[in-house]
Amino acid sequence: MEKQEIRTFGRRHGKKLSPRKQSLLANVLPAISPKNIKNAGNLILEIGFGNGEHVRDLAIRNPETIIIGAEPFMNGVAALLSAITTESDNKIMDEYKNIRIWPDDVRKMFNELDAKFNEIWVLHPDPWPKAKHEKRRLLNADFLNLLGTKLAPHGQIIIGTDHWEYFDWITDQAKKTALYASFPPLSVIHTRYAKKNMAGTNAPKYIILTNQ
Ligand SMILES: C[S@@+](CC[C@H](N)C(=O)[O-])C[C@H]1O[C@@H](n2cnc3c(N)ncnc32)[C@H](O)[C@@H]1O
Repeated sequence: MEKQEIRTFGRRHGKKLSPRKQSLLANVLPAISPKNIKNAGNLILEIGFGNGEHVRDLAIRNPETIIIGAEPFMNGVAALLSAITTESDNKIMDEYKNIRIWPDDVRKMFNELDAKFNEIWVLHPDPWPKAKHEKRRLLNADFLNLLGTKLAPHGQIIIGTDHWEYFDWITDQAKKTALYASFPPLSVIHTRYAKKNMAGTNAPKYIILTNQ
């Protein structure tokens, strides 16, 4: 972020991490930074991956593609690292070798990494439901336009949320951009937030945005 951006996320740190997770952050995380990527093949980005369930699913379903996850909440980053490494020696499991992690605000990554993505996923973005917090919503028209510039030819931005008011707001923001919107039914694995919200609330709705 060159200028001071409005903060779109809550905490960066939660409860104290286990020694294993601290070691993963210190020793494994730097080795899987997306900074070293040469944009040769296909790339998928997930923004705000939480504990990383969907990043892992993407990695398994797209073994030839580099999957970048961006998440500033370090307990989430540590949870993903823990799930993709062996407990005995902290080595990344073969099926997750295509995962890269940006442990910070994705907008900072865009300033450092000049890459184009085939898919950009945002699942259950923070809804910031109070009117006074609306400015913290990440998926405003400016940000959606920025994401549009990060798409490879025929690339897609896929956004899902069960917060229907935020969904309608995002749809309105998308109308202020040059992007095309479609609303196909999708079958996406349930992330922690999807599960947390499932009891008695709304089913997730999805919007896909493209440049053409
Ligand atoms: C409600 S959680 C959903 C997490 C996960 N996608 C899921 O469905 O379980 C939203 C996540 O977006 C992250 N986030 C918010 N603003 C972000 C930003 N600018 N860059 C990257 N991640 C962000 C937050 O830290 C938080 O973990």
